This record gives sequence, C-alpha cells and structure tokens, in this order.
Amino acid sequence: MTNSRRMGLNAVIFGLGSHESGWRMPESNALASTDLDYWIDIARRCENGGFDALFLGDVLALQQSADRHLSDAMDPLVILSALAAVTQRIGLIGTASTTFDHPFHLARRFASLDHVTRGRAGWDIVTSSNPLEAYNFGLYTMPDHAERHARAADVTQAAIALWDSWHSDARIAEKQSGRYLDPAKVQTVDHDGPFVRSRGPLNVPRPPQGRPVLAQAGASEAGRDFAARYADIVFTVQSDLGGAQAFYSDMKTRAVHHGRAPESLLIYPGIVPIAAATHQEAEKRLWK
Ligand SMILES: Cc1cc2nc3c(=O)[nH]c(=O)nc-3n(C[C@H](O)[C@H](O)[C@H](O)COP(=O)(O)O)c2cc1C
Repeated sequence: MTNSRRMGLNAVIFGLGSHESGWRMPESNALASTDLDYWIDIARRCENGGFDALFLGDVLALQQSADRHLSDAMDPLVILSALAAVTQRIGLIGTASTTFDHPFHLARRFASLDHVTRGRAGWDIVTSSNPLEAYNFGLYTMPDHAERHARAADVTQAAIALWDSWHSDARIAEKQSGRYLDPAKVQTVDHDGPFVRSRGPLNVPRPPQGRPVLAQAGASEAGRDFAARYADIVFTVQSDLGGAQAFYSDMKTRAVHHGRAPESLLIYPGIVPIAAATHQEAEKRLWK
C-alpha cells in the first residue's frame, strides 16, 4: 500500500472505567478492581481488538471521596506482570512516579517487566500532583511543580543510565570456564544528580527493548519540554481540532529542538468512545 498511515491505539484504563459511577452499572462487577480475571479480560479484548498498548494509570493515594467513588488501585506493575503471561503482542504500559520512587527501583521494575513481557513494557512517567500522595510518603505538602519536574529529569536520566549499565551481551554464561558475566560489559553509572544518586550497575540484565517505551503526559511548559526530551509517546487531552493541531506541532518542534527526529515522538490524544450499533444508539447511551 502506498501513502497508507497507521493509527496507533492505546487503551487507558483507570479502575472500573473513567466514569466515577462506572462501578454502579448493572453489568459491572463492583469488586473487580482486585480481580485478576477483570484485568485479563480487558487485556485480551484490547489485544484481540487490535490495540497496540494497554495503559494503567496510577495515583498513590485513596481519594477523599473513596466512600462513594472507586479509587482503590493495585500496583500497575503487578497487574501488568500477570497480564504478560496471558498476552503475546500488546504493549503493557504502567504508571510510576518520579517524585516518590527511587530510580534504582524504577529501572529494576521496568527492566523486569520488559523481560517478562519479552520486550513489551512501557513506563508512563508521572511527577504526581495530588497532596494526598505526599501525605503517604511523610510529606506535609507536595514539592512544587518546578521541583517535581526538575526531579523527574534527574530520576529519568538515572534510570536510563541504569538500563544502559548493561551491554546486551554481558552474560557469557560459560559453564565450563565458570565465567558468567563479562565485567567489561557491566558498568557502574555513578549518577550524582541534584535529587538522586545511584552507583549502579543495575542488577537486572539489559532488557529486550534496551529500555522500556517511555510515555508522558506533559501539559505545562516544563511538562511538554520533559516529554519532548525523553518520551516516545505523549498522552494529551484536547477538546478541539485547532488546539490539538497546535499541541502536535508544538511537541514536534520541541523534539527537534532536543535533537530528535520528529517522528520519534508519537502523540496520543485521548477520546472517550461510546460504543453502540448505530450513531443514534450511541447518543442515547451517552445521555441515558
Ligand atoms: C491520559 C492521561 C493520563 C494520565 N494519567 C496519570 C496518572 O495515572 N497518574 C498521575 O499522577 N498523573 C496522570 N496524568 C497527569 C499527567 O501526568 C500530568 O501531570 C498532567 O498532564 C499535567 O501536566 P504537567 O505535569 O505538565 O503540569 C495523566 C494525564 C493524561 C492526559
């Protein structure tokens, strides 16, 4: 085919759906957030339906209105590790915070996910913004926006250095000579940033993709710049075509400014589809 363009599809799943009353729908299993079969069903539907990736968001706190709105959430990487075993093709992207996680933990968990998925892992890099999350980590207030983004860059650079601390052929695994690793191919990183330090190397061999796919949803000036520098995929919510086009071209320009090929950064605008047999039925379902 000539001039064909392929649309990438990524399913964004929070709990029992984006609608705060999703758990109350007659067909919902209200307790499904901790039921592995629910997650397996979603992953299989996405994979069979032609989606490229499944994305699990995460907030590190129970919300204030948790008595009425479902906001409990298991760790996305635990869910995605289980989904690795029942899917073959689909990308599995999990959210993790640069504000509350250390890069060694992040690099290790995502390298592990990339191994168990055989090269299908993605990290949605968030800086976290909800004060309730700060309370769970012994802070009285959330570090401010600028500090969170500066830390995000430091943590991401450290994680990248840790993934790069292994050459892909570092494991010799010669049973006869007893040589398991080639020490010249596993190096310390000595990351000494303004927020985090790590000597390295990582204790997980280089993952199949080299590093996981990096996703981000920067909207502010600092967030967009971060995404243009590090992300492979950018999630965005846009409400009109003009705004979406402006965002797209702004992100591509920023990527070029950071020395990247514009096509190396993919933009994923969000939509909430209302599925029904006809347009009319979909309208009815929307306003029901
Ligand atoms: C589709 C989408 C999903 C997001 N998922 C999460 C999430 O799971 N956890 C989170 O803390 N923030 C999430 N965010 C928020 C972003 O990470 C980011 O903080 C927000 O877009 C504001 O951008 P800024 O950091 O540039 O101010 C999401 C944003 C979008 C558009």
